[in-house]
Amino acid sequence: PLAVVVLISGNGSNLQALIDAQEQGAPYRIRAVISNEPTAFGLERARRHGIPTQVIDHRDYPDRASFDVALAKTIDGYDPGLVVLAGFMRILTPEFVAHYRGRLLNIHPSLLPKYRGLHTHRRVLEAGDTEHGASVHFVTPELDGGPVVLQARVPVQPGDDPDTLAARVLKQEHRLYPTVVRWFAEGRLWLDGSGRPCLDGEVLDEPRR
Ligand code: GAR
Repeated sequence: PLAVVVLISGNGSNLQALIDAQEQGAPYRIRAVISNEPTAFGLERARRHGIPTQVIDHRDYPDRASFDVALAKTIDGYDPGLVVLAGFMRILTPEFVAHYRGRLLNIHPSLLPKYRGLHTHRRVLEAGDTEHGASVHFVTPELDGGPVVLQARVPVQPGDDPDTLAARVLKQEHRLYPTVVRWFAEGRLWLDGSGRPCLDGEVLDEPRR
């Protein structure tokens, strides 16, 4: 099975979805969960499933570059074929991203390319959008700008606040992320030499939905 390292900063509900899929037979093994936040609940989720955990606190490093070097060193100790960002809330240096080219995935709570960055649910409500969603993409140096592999849409409903909307989106995230990690683990998904995602041998010009 494919060796996977998961990076988190918080609750880790996406991590939980990935653990659940693994335990239900998906062809990957989460070798470690690494958090930059010592109190992230996701660390507890990992421990409950016997998965090794590491904390690399960004506050212990003088700058982003040295944090990323320490992070990469720790990740590479597990020799992963895939690194999965699951609610990991740090911006990564271009050097870090280049090192994991084609084997670094992120999930983002919006219909990319709309609403890169933070506070997506609030921004969707402020804009009056009638639909929202989540995207899984390969990571490139551009923040939330890498090619999208899979998206799910959800309706924005009357009376939604950022929390109700986030919950509806998260439910879809928990479906999307295990699907994409499974595709990658099965050798069905990769990034080609031109940086285009390929699924089952075909270039994905549009995200799957
Ligand atoms: C998820 O909604 C994820 O898409 C988002 O943080 C949440 C983490 O939830 N990620 C980002 O905003 C990345 N910039 P979780 O810790 O329960 O998986």
